[in-house]
Amino acid sequence: MEKRIFDNPADPSLDRVDGRVKVTGKATYSAEYAVPNLAHAVLVTSTIAKGVITGIDAEKANSAPGVLAVISHLNAPKVPGWGSAAQPAERAPIGTSFRVFYDHFVYFDGQPVAMVVADTHERAVYAASLLKITYQSEKHRTHFEANVQQAIVPLNVQRNKTSPFADYDRGEKGQVEAHIEAEYTIPTQHHQPMEPHAIVAVWEAEDKLTVYDKNQGVKSAQGQLAQAFKIPRENVRVIAKYIGGAFGSGIRVWPHTIAAVLAAKHVGRPVKLVLGREQMFTSVGYRPYTVQKLTIGASKNGKLTSITHEGIGQTSAYEEHLERTILASRSLYACPHVSTRYRLLSLDVNTPTWMRGPGDATGMFALESAMDEMAFALNIDPLDFRIKNYAELDQERNLPWSAKSLKECYVLGAEKFGWKNRKLEPKSMQKDGVLVGYGMASSLYGFHRHPSKARAVMQADGSVIVQSATMDIGPGTGTAMTRIAAKVLGIHAKMVRFDLGDSALPDAPGQNGSSTIPSVGSAVHDVCVALRDRLIEMAFEMPGFATKEKSQVVVRNGQVLASMADTNGVSFGDILKHHHRNELEISAESKSGPERDQYSMYSFGCHFVEVEVSPFTGEVHVTRVVTCADVGTIINYKTARSQSIGGIVGGIGMALMEESAMDHRYGRYVTSDFSSYHIPVHADIPPIEVYYIDKPDVHVNPIGSKGLGEIAIVGVAAAVANAVFHATGKRIRQLPITPDKLI
Ligand code: MOS
Repeated sequence: MEKRIFDNPADPSLDRVDGRVKVTGKATYSAEYAVPNLAHAVLVTSTIAKGVITGIDAEKANSAPGVLAVISHLNAPKVPGWGSAAQPAERAPIGTSFRVFYDHFVYFDGQPVAMVVADTHERAVYAASLLKITYQSEKHRTHFEANVQQAIVPLNVQRNKTSPFADYDRGEKGQVEAHIEAEYTIPTQHHQPMEPHAIVAVWEAEDKLTVYDKNQGVKSAQGQLAQAFKIPRENVRVIAKYIGGAFGSGIRVWPHTIAAVLAAKHVGRPVKLVLGREQMFTSVGYRPYTVQKLTIGASKNGKLTSITHEGIGQTSAYEEHLERTILASRSLYACPHVSTRYRLLSLDVNTPTWMRGPGDATGMFALESAMDEMAFALNIDPLDFRIKNYAELDQERNLPWSAKSLKECYVLGAEKFGWKNRKLEPKSMQKDGVLVGYGMASSLYGFHRHPSKARAVMQADGSVIVQSATMDIGPGTGTAMTRIAAKVLGIHAKMVRFDLGDSALPDAPGQNGSSTIPSVGSAVHDVCVALRDRLIEMAFEMPGFATKEKSQVVVRNGQVLASMADTNGVSFGDILKHHHRNELEISAESKSGPERDQYSMYSFGCHFVEVEVSPFTGEVHVTRVVTCADVGTIINYKTARSQSIGGIVGGIGMALMEESAMDHRYGRYVTSDFSSYHIPVHADIPPIEVYYIDKPDVHVNPIGSKGLGEIAIVGVAAAVANAVFHATGKRIRQLPITPDKLI
């Protein structure tokens, strides 16, 4: 088993602060809020992919026992933020987010077309089965490959030439002595967190709404709901304290959320809606089907001379979803000539969304597979090839990196993995009748830092409550924030309580884009520094301290001490007592400054993967993974490591299993449960060794931490594909790498 070499025994990581309530079932998830007078809603979804609803016969459903309402475009309360819905003759143009129960148009199979509300869930389900909905179908387009010629420059780019998705060209093609050209395909994949999306919607008054909703950002959900229902922001309260995984599916407010809020308004009672597993495939986005064409040119000695990267992603017929598919090719390697193109293909499907390293995980599969193909063509070790083309600065923005320890990652990862034992020739490392392969890939992610607020309230006993409207969709936000606060204040972690997941708390971004530690971690740091400094000031107003030298003062064990050597300080509680205070509250906001334009900020990493492939069945087993990341300071090794493992598990799923297959005759997913949509289980996952460079990035923020979430998955699929190539000599350019592609 691996050694946790970076967990300092003298200062060990915190266990999850909410671990106990989660494993004992005391943590309340969205669907579990027991609100009085609760009614239960069930969504009814379309059975055609394109057309119009011609009739809804609700007579039987309406008279079924316990039914409170059948809601559809025929009778739904208006969403004031959407204007009127007088059965328009035209479909919504692209750029419109989907408006549930707005009109009679059907845009995709699985679209919510009606909702039954009853006094129990079972009665709602039964009544929903009695609804008779008729349609007039139109010819739909759901097949990506068959329609790929229709892909266009995104409207977003047509309207905004400075969009990062606009065509990009840099430099002149150098002399190309070696050249590869390849096309890579990623199928549609779904987040499918264990906890389905769910909401309990409560209208407290005509213009006052509370929702317990599974999402990744209570403040952004608050804003979106306030806008839709045209009520003041502060009249909307969104609570999401515990989330059973999301991976991007909870970044936006989706139609089912609006539908539940509408239903609660319509029946005048709180309404609960839980999506069924099948509905999860058409309700909360997915990783879009994407085709990418890469060409790489290099000199014979292995220097890159040219990269071209074209990505075509899938979107819906009514809305654009753009992601960073082609961006990494501009900055990951030193290369004089780089061109990227990004196009979108509209199909009769629901809108995709960000999922697990959105865009970058997709793009890096193509780029890092192509780099491996180029290394093979040049007969160079793939790791050496990458090191030869190491980017010492960001050529896209022509800026220095804020910090980059990718080379150190390569060296450490290679050593821990035993990369030197790799034989250059594919299919050359067999063992007991199976083919063994070693593959690697780089990882890069441009994490975000958003303005964030936090509040710290010191109590009379010297304990502190720290609050911010941030989220924890699984990585252990509360634990990391507790550790930051405890360290700054010099108190035991048990003396800290961190509150999150409630829009009534100080403003914070949602949990996405690997932004929580850089953004909210900085705010928590800053507010605790302010609290500490205030406590020191207050100590200096006390007898005995006035004569001391302020620059020597430290805080330790919940006390202000005159110097490092001092053992007899004044406790925080006594400072408050002396000043006749029951508590001391400080607020702070933290945001980036001019450094944003002076440095290029990325997290970096690399993955090393060993696979065993059966030459007879084509079955691939990942048998070892070593990952190494440069994400700046590691706040809490134990939860960081878990997050890295989670990302790699997602990457293995992406590489080997996950594929949402559609029957294009109906435009309907046929993989709509966990028996057909395969995600990794424990038996699929080998020991994973996680290493960090753990060096503060002094330019990014006060805590020196970069984002960790996405860097863990970006590149994994390529590392697996590269290992499969090394094992078998077969290059699989279409995920997932299933046995049929290998035999
Ligand atoms: Mo992530 S896909 O930014 O939740």
